[in-house]
Amino acid sequence: MKNLNEKVAHFFNKPSYKDATKRTEKAKILEDAYEIPVNMVNAGKGKTFHIRTYGCQSNERDTETMGGILETLGYTWIPELEKADVAILNTCAIRENAENKVFGQIGWLKPLKKERPDMIIGVCGCMAQEEGVVQRILSKHPEVDLIFGTHNIHMLPTYLESAMFSKKTIVNVWSKEGDVVENLPVTRKSKIKAYVNIMFGCDHFCTYCIVPYTRGKERSRVMKDIVNEVIELKEEGYKEVTLLGQNVNSWAKDLDSDDKFSDLLDAVAKTEIERIRFTTSNPWNFTDELINVITNNKNIMPHIHLPAQSGNNTVLRRMARRNTVEEYLEIIRKIRIASPNIAISTDLIVGFPGETQAQFEDTLKLYKEVKYDTAYTFIYSKRENTPAMRFKDVVTLAEKSANLQTLNELVKKYSKENNEKWIGKTVDVLVEGPSKRNENILSGYSPQWKVVNFPNNENKDIIGKIIKVKITEAKRFSLNGELI
Ligand code: SAH
Ligand code: SF4
Ligand code: F3S
Repeated sequence: MKNLNEKVAHFFNKPSYKDATKRTEKAKILEDAYEIPVNMVNAGKGKTFHIRTYGCQSNERDTETMGGILETLGYTWIPELEKADVAILNTCAIRENAENKVFGQIGWLKPLKKERPDMIIGVCGCMAQEEGVVQRILSKHPEVDLIFGTHNIHMLPTYLESAMFSKKTIVNVWSKEGDVVENLPVTRKSKIKAYVNIMFGCDHFCTYCIVPYTRGKERSRVMKDIVNEVIELKEEGYKEVTLLGQNVNSWAKDLDSDDKFSDLLDAVAKTEIERIRFTTSNPWNFTDELINVITNNKNIMPHIHLPAQSGNNTVLRRMARRNTVEEYLEIIRKIRIASPNIAISTDLIVGFPGETQAQFEDTLKLYKEVKYDTAYTFIYSKRENTPAMRFKDVVTLAEKSANLQTLNELVKKYSKENNEKWIGKTVDVLVEGPSKRNENILSGYSPQWKVVNFPNNENKDIIGKIIKVKITEAKRFSLNGELI
């Protein structure tokens, strides 16, 4: 049984959509918000943790921060969630199926908690910011010890202390607009490539999307902090950084500075780190300066992920996207003129409420026109508290699934066609390690973000290095080649 310690705070702050929707306060940059309570120094000695991550790169990066925090408390990472003393689920709320996976996992942990009552089960991330989810966990899943949100992971040591000493579920979700906490530890998953947050949150409120409520207001890190992080990573031997934000083109809009994302990208390129990527850039504010910076710096990789969501203007307007199809295509045209070899990928939603068959076909038309290298395609999923959940939806799930399949056929077709263009060419590959399917095959990414697999016949020590590979075969979603 758990000890009860009356001196420890027993938090109970549930999420509030009303507060999560506000966009009034100016974000603060906090240099010293992270601290370890005296009782938690070395509290994890001899104990283990595991964090299971769902969702996007923002969550992956948050997991690295939580890993860093737990290691500074003395905990050691273990590969099995079910054996860990502290088991955390870092969740994603973007679509219903993402949420179902998490509830399945919580149910699966329940008997383990009975066997080992001292095990701490935590749920954090975007689902924790949802009113309905927290309510459901509190009423049906007493096995969860701790719920905290996306704005307060720097408080993890304090919450862990409370969870250890409380019989009730500790809930501490902040629905504030958000701050930027700078002094956080990090244990990165890779020694080769790293995620660098440049901003948090989103102010766009696309009508289908939950992210502006789960991640709060757009708030940027200052250029100096970002560039210094990249310099440190380079000095540690990292070869690639990916600059992260839900909408990187809006970087610095909230700062007292005239700098734009293109200036930041240029400054990061000047660090001479070997590879730079960024995600996600949206069609609005995709400026000519940005295209210039991308094409003028060899270390900014020639791949742009530019979510279109739909190929129909009425649907785009109802999604509250800020661009028309024509404006989108104009950006693609300019990018391709400036950099003909650039790879372009996208996100598309099928079955947005009210989308007609003709409107869906406009998405197919857009796809055929752009001939994307790849795309992430999703069936629209109703999200709690978003405007689109109230839009009338008459198309059945079966029809939406059939449309998704039609779209996915196009994705495969153009992906293969684009990949075939690389046969016979030599590409630079940042080698990450053995391929998932075959230990004797090494795998890495080309500048255009294509997975390249090749045998390492000469047994060279090349993991973590950028090497030349000649492409011999194009698969749908990868390339095969040989070392030269
Ligand atoms: N910030 C990024 C994307 C974040 S979410 C951007 O603005 O592009 C990643 C993708 O999930 C989105 O691009 C969208 O295609 C998809 N998505 C978001 N909400 C969704 C929903 N309710 N149903 C289905 N797909 C959704
Ligand atoms: Fe969601 Fe739109 Fe913000 Fe992207 S820009 S995170 S799709 S609201
Ligand atoms: Fe999911 Fe939150 Fe990312 S909802 S996609 S983890 S911002």
